[in-house]
Amino acid sequence: MSWLSRRVAGFPTTVFSEFSALATRHKAVNLGQGFPDFDGPDEIKEAACRAIRGGVNQYAVGAGAQALRGAIAQHARRFYGQEVDPDTMVTVTSGATEALFDAVMGLVDPGDEVIVFEPFYDSYVASIEMAGGVARFVLLRPPDATHRAWWFDAAELEAAFGAKTKLVVVNTPHNPTGKVYTRGELELIGRLCERHGTAVLADEVYEHIVFSPARHLRVATLPGMAERTLTVSSAGKSFSFTGWKIGWAIGLPALRQAVQQAHQFVTFASAAPLQAAVSEALALPDAYFTKLSASYRAKRDRLVAALSAAGLTPMAPEGSYFVMADTSRYAFEDDFACCRFLTREAGVAAIPPSAFYGEAHRREARHLARFAFCKTDALLDEAATRLARLPELASRR
Ligand SMILES: Cc1ncc(COP(=O)(O)O)c(C=O)c1O
Repeated sequence: MSWLSRRVAGFPTTVFSEFSALATRHKAVNLGQGFPDFDGPDEIKEAACRAIRGGVNQYAVGAGAQALRGAIAQHARRFYGQEVDPDTMVTVTSGATEALFDAVMGLVDPGDEVIVFEPFYDSYVASIEMAGGVARFVLLRPPDATHRAWWFDAAELEAAFGAKTKLVVVNTPHNPTGKVYTRGELELIGRLCERHGTAVLADEVYEHIVFSPARHLRVATLPGMAERTLTVSSAGKSFSFTGWKIGWAIGLPALRQAVQQAHQFVTFASAAPLQAAVSEALALPDAYFTKLSASYRAKRDRLVAALSAAGLTPMAPEGSYFVMADTSRYAFEDDFACCRFLTREAGVAAIPPSAFYGEAHRREARHLARFAFCKTDALLDEAATRLARLPELASRR
């Protein structure tokens, strides 16, 4: 007999559990899960310790500590010219994951449809299902002779909209493809949303990991989008503190209220001393943010070179800290078989991206593997050395 509710019974165990365990068992270099193997700035760690020592240890204000909401508003003005009222337009959450969950819980009624681009960050669909909503998928297709980056078919997107479409989730920069949505693409999404009275949930957690000439556009700042867009971000990626789980949602009061209504009964408030530290992090000088993306650009180039040398075909990302690689040259049965081989035999763990597609399109990923490069150069070099043996190992299969 199962104790599980129908709500959660169908969820698979996340692909990360299998591959992290496999990586540990085979002492593989883990380029699977997307967390940095280095810490963020010392002064921000110090700020967290200072807050704890200084007595910031009780519940924060539910919507978020005032200093942090103020810093989120300042940051939005500094980088995007976005005017944010810290008192009515911001809710601080336990990571972006909670903000996304709260937004879906606060906006989606049973039977409502939510458009999600595939591949997707896996919490979107779980949240939609828990709310009783229905995910409608639109496929992102890999670069080809006529598209220099991952792309979607405008007619397919248009066809996904209908009378029940409540929400579109847009993740830019995108995990796992590294796509940075262009102005034209976002404007098209905006026009369709306007026509159908649809809101946008913009997941911008990789906002500071973008490689020029690509440029991150804050969806909410495009013409007509402020009134229909909830922006979600987090300290995890921008400051390399994924374990702190401090995230936030920004939106005009009518939309932000949806997040706040759910948040007050999901976690009520998130870690007070870490909020104090993140409010300092958001105020770091521009040079910090420039260095962050320059450092990730160098790591991306290192990993892309290693993957190419190993006979995999990387699709260089425009943002985020993931690379998708085409593995078809090695003719594995599917992406799970390939990633298990890479982890066990080559000693480098990657994630099979079919886990990030709905049932109907899962096969689109059968010759893809996702590698994370949010790792020290020493670890990336070790991965490169191991991957160099791949052609020989694969030939002996
Ligand atoms: C696209 C995307 N959104 C949200 C999250 C979750 O962010 P957080 O750790 O702040 O909950 C991640 C983490 O990997 C992500 O890749």
